Amino acid sequence: MANVTYDKNCLTVLDHPLVGHKMTILRDESTAPAHFRKLVHELAALEAYEATRDLPTMQVQVKTPICETEGVRLKEDTLAVVPILRAGMGMLEGVLSVVPSAAVGVLGMERDEETHEPHSYYAKMPQGIENRMALVIDPMLATGGSALAAIKYLREAGVKDIRLLVMVAAPEGVAAVNAAEPDVHIWACALDEGLNDAAYIVPGLGDAGDRIFGTV
Ligand code: PRP
Ligand code: URA
Repeated sequence: MANVTYDKNCLTVLDHPLVGHKMTILRDESTAPAHFRKLVHELAALEAYEATRDLPTMQVQVKTPICETEGVRLKEDTLAVVPILRAGMGMLEGVLSVVPSAAVGVLGMERDEETHEPHSYYAKMPQGIENRMALVIDPMLATGGSALAAIKYLREAGVKDIRLLVMVAAPEGVAAVNAAEPDVHIWACALDEGLNDAAYIVPGLGDAGDRIFGTV
């Protein structure tokens, strides 16, 4: 495990047999893109369920075929899902399958293969982003550079509640996000050993974007 430190409370690693099972198939180099995309979709839905436990609700009356009773509905316009292009798009439908009413903001980032620094190439946010909880989604948290660039963009747009959902986290990436943004909580399906010389996560699953889009 990489020799880094961070506040353990900033990270939730999903501890569930279904997650472990799906992650193992996701990591397998022989898993084809169609299956890989399906697994990312399913894992993203499970993660979104965990990360939205405190979504604001309001009390409502509902009439069943039997009688009237009390229920809750989600408050409107409180959530935005923010995929980091391109690999984050692989998680989007999974997250929306549990919170279909969320608005979507898109951020384009590409990591330079040599420097590992993110290059930002696109941004489009929904109206009122500053008043929404933002779920930033990206399968891989490696150095943390792309996630931090996304968080910085959202902070500058006025967003206060930012949460980061990834499939695989490297300790280096968790530490980088936690050091710069201690209020941002991270959800991951796995916490891996660390980064190799090319800043790829070990054992990881390779290049998530390439595996989702079949561009390997
Ligand atoms: C990957 C991944 C993250 C980033 C993680 O994207 O999806 O966005 O790298 O690395 P970091 O934590 O060191 O920034 P990539 O830039 O390869 O682009 P892609 O999604 O288009 O494949
Ligand atoms: N981006 C990926 O897709 N995979 C890694 O392991 C690191 C960055």
